[in-house]
Amino acid sequence: MPFNHNDHYHPLLLDLLPPGPGIALDVGCGTGRFARRLAATGMAVEAVDVSAAMVEAAAGLGSPGPGEIVYRQADVGTDPLPEAHYDYISCLASLHHLPVGTLTKLRRALVPGGVLVVLGLARPSTPADWARAAAAVPVNALARLVVYAGERLNGGVEDGPRAPVADDYPTLAEVRREAVRQLPGSTVRPLLFWRTLITYRELGDGDPTAG
Ligand SMILES: C[S@@+](CC[C@H](N)C(=O)[O-])C[C@H]1O[C@@H](n2cnc3c(N)ncnc32)[C@H](O)[C@@H]1O
Repeated sequence: MPFNHNDHYHPLLLDLLPPGPGIALDVGCGTGRFARRLAATGMAVEAVDVSAAMVEAAAGLGSPGPGEIVYRQADVGTDPLPEAHYDYISCLASLHHLPVGTLTKLRRALVPGGVLVVLGLARPSTPADWARAAAAVPVNALARLVVYAGERLNGGVEDGPRAPVADDYPTLAEVRREAVRQLPGSTVRPLLFWRTLITYRELGDGDPTAG
């Protein structure tokens, strides 16, 4: 795809990194484009995907360093995650593949002060959602054209393997509801290119959903 909506938001997600190098988990890493950007900041990165083909492709692309990347095949829906372990967890275009309680599991895997960012897809369901979705169409067309022209000038870019996609995803209202339920204190921000950003910082003062 000449203009990748998930990749477009990488700088925004990197702005939310906690201070210090630390340990990062990238959930549903696909071919590892975001994992490599995390490693470039010096973080030690665990990049996991349920698809063996994706893990193999990502590992084959290596790491820019200075942080190390460990690629691992894992089903984040069913495999356990260590509790209070990661300084930063990212989940890009993957949450809608995972069971409903996954946000709680990811929250518990954060150290105090750790940050969870979820860049997700959300179906429009209100007039404001539809207006935002419509506004993205001409901007997207222009961005695609600019990126396509740039790639042609640079001799073209080889397509890597395509990550598995799911066609069904929640509405923005459902995303907000789950964020309030599983990540109290999180923020949910609709973004232009049909994406939603959940940001959560673990305060480490007990389970915010308890009681
Ligand atoms: C749409 S792709 C996004 C890939 C990548 N994050 C990106 O931004 O390009 C969703 C990814 O989630 C992975 N995935 C789906 N279910 C998963 C699960 N249960 N555990 C781990 N990864 C999963 C898929 O294999 C796929 O690579």
